[in-house]
Amino acid sequence: MADFHKVKLADIYKETDDTSVLTFDIPQELKENFKFHQGQHLTLRQVIDGEDIRRSYSLCSSPLEDKWQVAVKQIPGGKFSTYVNEQLKSNELLEIMAPSGTFGVEVLPQASKNYLFFAAGSGITPIMSMIKTHLAAEPNSTCKLFYVNKTAKSIIFKEELEQLRNTYFGRLEIYYFLTKEKRDIDLFNGRFDDDKMKVLTNTFIDIPDTSEVFLCGPETMVNYVSDFLIKAGLPKELIHFELFVSGLSEEDIKRQERLAKQNVEGVEVTIVDGGKEFLFTMTKDYDNILDAALNAGADLPFACKGGVCSTCKCQVVDGEVEMKINYALEDKEVAQNYVLSCQAVPTTPKVVVDFDV
Ligand code: FES
Repeated sequence: MADFHKVKLADIYKETDDTSVLTFDIPQELKENFKFHQGQHLTLRQVIDGEDIRRSYSLCSSPLEDKWQVAVKQIPGGKFSTYVNEQLKSNELLEIMAPSGTFGVEVLPQASKNYLFFAAGSGITPIMSMIKTHLAAEPNSTCKLFYVNKTAKSIIFKEELEQLRNTYFGRLEIYYFLTKEKRDIDLFNGRFDDDKMKVLTNTFIDIPDTSEVFLCGPETMVNYVSDFLIKAGLPKELIHFELFVSGLSEEDIKRQERLAKQNVEGVEVTIVDGGKEFLFTMTKDYDNILDAALNAGADLPFACKGGVCSTCKCQVVDGEVEMKINYALEDKEVAQNYVLSCQAVPTTPKVVVDFDV
């Protein structure tokens, strides 16, 4: 069920000029439902100027802290982020959905892993949670963070990162890269490119010794760094990412056009949610299962409706669908028939999808 809960904002503070950090006061009776793992996100909802606006934000706190915290960076013209950064005050109530998302790997106390993290700007949020969790829960694991920002002042969580580096002395290395401020060592000026990545992979990164890589930031950065690491010999399955999407690729546009043409009229869709079945017939007016189901009266979870956040994830248990775009699910999830319902176009006359997964 797409349950939103009214929760009190315990604290809000400005981490940088354009980023606010929100801490929620999760009541005792919701704590079980709001349990999360590092890398998951919260979906927030607010009616702004009469419009129901939902946004997903990665939790930057660690599950080990018994704290639910997100960071919201102001996007120019962004309704939700402007509301948070300019109006929202401590003690106000916000509607939030229980944590969801599949970014992150299992935490194993006996693990002895070497984690690499690449983040840009507010892409640090899920990574912050991962670093805190793996360092605290896996005493033999190490973390290396490569973190791009515009200026030193705009680095989100700089102080907390420095504290972590001290607390876990020798197990956390941090390398900052600035794009709009020049520093003495040229390597640390500008975005990741071939020259930088060659130096990083020759000097700071031991590819055969790397256990997992997590990337979070703009699509161009994430794709570029993961391609480079794969070419350098890192197995693809060790790379996990979350993207800020800037636009559709040519391949995505072509797939969307093809799916628009083969839209099947009158598909019988069964939604399994909360242990109950909800059956409706999908018409040509809708090009994805989520919108068609919401219109038919189903109450399903969603946030971005753009194939990015995975809040609308479900599993196809009968029939077939194809996704228009998918920026959220990993290959292994797709292989298990998981789909993003906001992007799922049925390709068979009957489809059954399960949201209780
Ligand atoms: S609602 Fe975000 S991926 Fe579907």
